[in-house]
Amino acid sequence: MSIGVCYFPEHWPSERWERDVEQMAEAGIEYVRMAEFSWAVLEPERGEFDFEWLDEAVELIDDHGMKAVLCTPTASPPRWLVDERPDILQRDRDGTVKHAGSRRHYCFNSPAYREETERVVREMADHYADDPRVVGWQTDNEYGCHGTADCYCEDCADAFRDWLDERYADADELNEAWGTTFWSQQYDAIEDVDVPKPTPAQDHPSYALDFRRFTSDSIIEYNRLQTDLLEEYNDDWFVTHNFMNLFPSIDIYEMGEDLDLVSWDSYPTGHVQEAGESSHDELRAGNPDLLSFNHDVYRSILGKPFWVMEQQPGDVNWPPHSAQPAEGAMRLWAHHATAHGADAVVYFRWRRCLEAQEQYHAGLRKQDGSADRGYHDAQTAAGELLEIEKGGSGDDSLESTDAPVAILNDYENIWAIAGQEHAPDFDYWALLQSFYRPLRARGVSVDIVHPESDLEEYEAVVAPALHLLTADLADHLTEYAESGGQLLFGPRTGVKDEYNKFRPAPQPGPLAELVGATVDQHESAPEHLETTVAPVDGDGADDDLPYRTWAEWLNPTEAEPILEYTSEGVTAGKTAAVRNTVGDGTVVYCGVQPEADLGDELIGALLERAEIPHAATLPDGVRATVRDGVTWLCNFTSNEVTVEGEGGQTDEESIDWRLGGPELEPFDLAVAAGDVIDGLSVSVHRGD
Ligand code: GAL
Repeated sequence: MSIGVCYFPEHWPSERWERDVEQMAEAGIEYVRMAEFSWAVLEPERGEFDFEWLDEAVELIDDHGMKAVLCTPTASPPRWLVDERPDILQRDRDGTVKHAGSRRHYCFNSPAYREETERVVREMADHYADDPRVVGWQTDNEYGCHGTADCYCEDCADAFRDWLDERYADADELNEAWGTTFWSQQYDAIEDVDVPKPTPAQDHPSYALDFRRFTSDSIIEYNRLQTDLLEEYNDDWFVTHNFMNLFPSIDIYEMGEDLDLVSWDSYPTGHVQEAGESSHDELRAGNPDLLSFNHDVYRSILGKPFWVMEQQPGDVNWPPHSAQPAEGAMRLWAHHATAHGADAVVYFRWRRCLEAQEQYHAGLRKQDGSADRGYHDAQTAAGELLEIEKGGSGDDSLESTDAPVAILNDYENIWAIAGQEHAPDFDYWALLQSFYRPLRARGVSVDIVHPESDLEEYEAVVAPALHLLTADLADHLTEYAESGGQLLFGPRTGVKDEYNKFRPAPQPGPLAELVGATVDQHESAPEHLETTVAPVDGDGADDDLPYRTWAEWLNPTEAEPILEYTSEGVTAGKTAAVRNTVGDGTVVYCGVQPEADLGDELIGALLERAEIPHAATLPDGVRATVRDGVTWLCNFTSNEVTVEGEGGQTDEESIDWRLGGPELEPFDLAVAAGDVIDGLSVSVHRGD
């Protein structure tokens, strides 16, 4: 459990480097990430490599007891390369070229760029192959950032046709699989298929899904080129890639197979603004559930600790508003990430830059080199995390999270629904989070895994939106329930086959028997339509629970209705959710996207059925998390809060506090020995 920093020595005079590195060591920093975007400095002219500057920086880092993590510099091909090989540039859907002048302007499928990538990665890997001061590598930087996952150039068109050739015997098979009779969209040959171009109406959904699969595969293949090369030179190195907040365009479960370590870049006050309207506290510290959702996704890819490869250090340049984070927020984020399974939290960047695009982005040090707010927070976190390590000995990292609940997540569902959201406010991630939030509110740890994963180890499984569903997956889930698993399905489940086509059988298709009901009708509902359901065995209007965006009317066959629509008019009295007993397990299908209270209700019942110990529902913004027998309490709010152990005890005796205690200041945290989640509660005292 360490702290690191991203350092760009090439942005500063070399006379400054020693002082910088000294100050890093003084803060307790253990890892320094470098060389990202540095291609033009490393290779100012074709074939003329200059490693002197990087060697010197690596040496200084080692002299001060820290380790270097290097990046391949491929996110920013230098100008001379673009001039020589302009065909490496990405193209927009309308053919517009994305020129040099910022970054990420290359195409993943360009044979020329793959050649150049191999050349530069080999050169770097060879140079550091026997250097123990370099412990690992990050490939490239944030694949797909700035909308660069998709490219529509000629190389992509060729690669897409090859990709289709591998999947479909001929055009007839493709036409049949996609269903191209509609609007005369048949192809005579696979060679006639192009990348998406501007069209009057939306793309054919089956074609669009395959293009998205192809895009993800292209990035994975490009990354594999790099990971294979790095491994060839030294397979003791860890190789990672830094993913982004809720990034939809890469099947990261598949890409994870090529990585030794997964990492992601966490900018809490930016992500919360991307998600919609933010409260005062969220603008200052972000939303803990949004952050931990990412931590849990990225941890679950390899089922082991991950890194935060870029951690917000202060104010940032790219969200609409760049509020100053709350006092102590940079420390809180490091603890919160560690609680969710991070083994290192690496702040981006060391020092505020004097030049170029990111001048309005803080660093741990100010532009004059003096310590900024983030530096003090990072220093505090580094010391505390060392202390917290198992047994307090500081030499043994905590194991990864052991989660009793899994949420199923499949990128193909995002791609399949895209273009057919059927509701302006439909958001795949929001749907998943409407089930995730109530789990976290009760301090329950959650893995967010691919549906085909081994599910046996989980007491309960939530499948919020398995839109595409194969018979094999239905069998996998049936087996889980029959052997005693507790399953909860959300709406839009079992809608389509793997080609993004409706089935002749009613929704949920191959799941109909397991669910014990079919879907009769669906509708999307704007906020101003009355959208409420109530328990079937409830006792009146007080039970009304709001839902939003999506609603399905269910026809129970074997299952028992548990929720019905209470809104007036055409929906009144229809079944909104059912519960079915299957073997030793239970299956609940909820046909609506729940708002908070309904989410709480469904998850509360699931936890009871699965007998999973949990906290009382904690206030928004205050979260409890267990990792390997250590419990973190994190307060992302401006309120003072008091933590009470089981039975309402607040005294020091009832909980063995390793850091802090039961009274948490605004944006503060506490750490307790042991798993103290069961029966835990938190009371809020307003800031005044
Ligand atoms: C990340 C990116 C970094 C830097 C940072 C600024 O998305 O990886 O290179 O641009 O944002 O917050």
